[in-house]
Amino acid sequence: MKKVGVAILGLGVVGGGTYKILKEHADFYRETQSVDIEVESVLELDRARALALGVPAEKIASNIAEIVLDPDVNIVVECIGGVAAAKDYVLDALNAGKTVVTSNKELFAKFWHELERAARRHNAGLFFEASCVGGVPIIRTLLDGLQSNEVSSLVGIINGTTNYILTEMTEKGVSYAEALQTAIGLGYAEADPTADVEGYDAAYKLSILSSLAFHTKVPYTKVFREGITGVSEADIRDGSQLGYVLKLLAVGKKTPAGIEVRVHPAFLEKSHPLASVGGSFNAVFVRGDSVGDVMLYGRGAGELPTGSAIVSDIIYAATHAELHYSTFKNTAAPDKDVKFVTDFASGYYLRMTVADTPGVLAKISAVLARAGISIDKLSQRVSGDRATLVIVTHATHELAVRNAVSKLGASGLAEVNSVLRVIL
Ligand code: HSE
Repeated sequence: MKKVGVAILGLGVVGGGTYKILKEHADFYRETQSVDIEVESVLELDRARALALGVPAEKIASNIAEIVLDPDVNIVVECIGGVAAAKDYVLDALNAGKTVVTSNKELFAKFWHELERAARRHNAGLFFEASCVGGVPIIRTLLDGLQSNEVSSLVGIINGTTNYILTEMTEKGVSYAEALQTAIGLGYAEADPTADVEGYDAAYKLSILSSLAFHTKVPYTKVFREGITGVSEADIRDGSQLGYVLKLLAVGKKTPAGIEVRVHPAFLEKSHPLASVGGSFNAVFVRGDSVGDVMLYGRGAGELPTGSAIVSDIIYAATHAELHYSTFKNTAAPDKDVKFVTDFASGYYLRMTVADTPGVLAKISAVLARAGISIDKLSQRVSGDRATLVIVTHATHELAVRNAVSKLGASGLAEVNSVLRVIL
């Protein structure tokens, strides 16, 4: 039986989950995959944590050199996170010819080209299923199951923390701040939640997924990014009355005008398949030219779901001799012939406060009309001599909306409180 030695760098949530799965399923993998996967060593500064997981003391390495020099280690699993030590250790492993499996989306989004160059040079495998959408096998799906298709779009809820927060706000009517505190208390959000709530985490994932889906390098710096920190209960409530639910969406599209990649809160019709993806769950909706629509749903984080993706990569690496790398020129910068669409089209939700006086609505719609913006839905709530107007537009362009909003503000006609996109 084929024997494969694994080293795990970092035994936090993901590394710990990986260790548990490998230990608990060792016999199952021997029976079903004919592969004997042995954890040969771990690198974990907190020895007590490693020992508590059941790692024998002699398997706790003191440094990365012990691991990369160990001939019994074939696969190095990186679960440290961040881009400092993790990058050095991954490169050390690849340069030593070890296959690397990682859950590190930031490392991949920023340095995939360098890692791949090292992997190719040293005939090492490079696997990253766990970097995007945790336990949902979206990367293998794009690489294998959907490889026959030209993918035109990929729309997803790919950050569980923000989905949990927005679901709490929607279902319980609580504020962003309250929902965030609940998410921190439950361990969904980090004490510093910036990466999740400002959309960086989703932008890293979208950069990786779009590069794979569209066969061209999509740097994360090209992703339009807006987080959820400005979302108010009023927006969620007003959107709900119009038949929408708010989600932090990642949208990737390949259009004749170029590649469009964006992460921002967006209203979806309540009947949209992604609208019912609640709590910390994730889902990705892919459109291929032959297959049509495919949707994957599941847990995007957590020790066992993310461990599941890592261990599946380990098994894949252990059972496939041929090495595969990306299907596009993987360089730091995108191909110079590829255009990125920044003035994208969308529906828009505008919430504004106006004076409740005759003719205000006509003047506001005139400003929108001059910007070429057509109104689809409108609702009004009057309170004293002020009114809250909620306008949903037909498809229009980002720049047109921004210009119209600044004109409305400058004219003194309306105080625009919120601008959110609506998926049409
Ligand atoms: N922080 C991520 C999320 C999980 O909330 O979805 C890891 O990517």
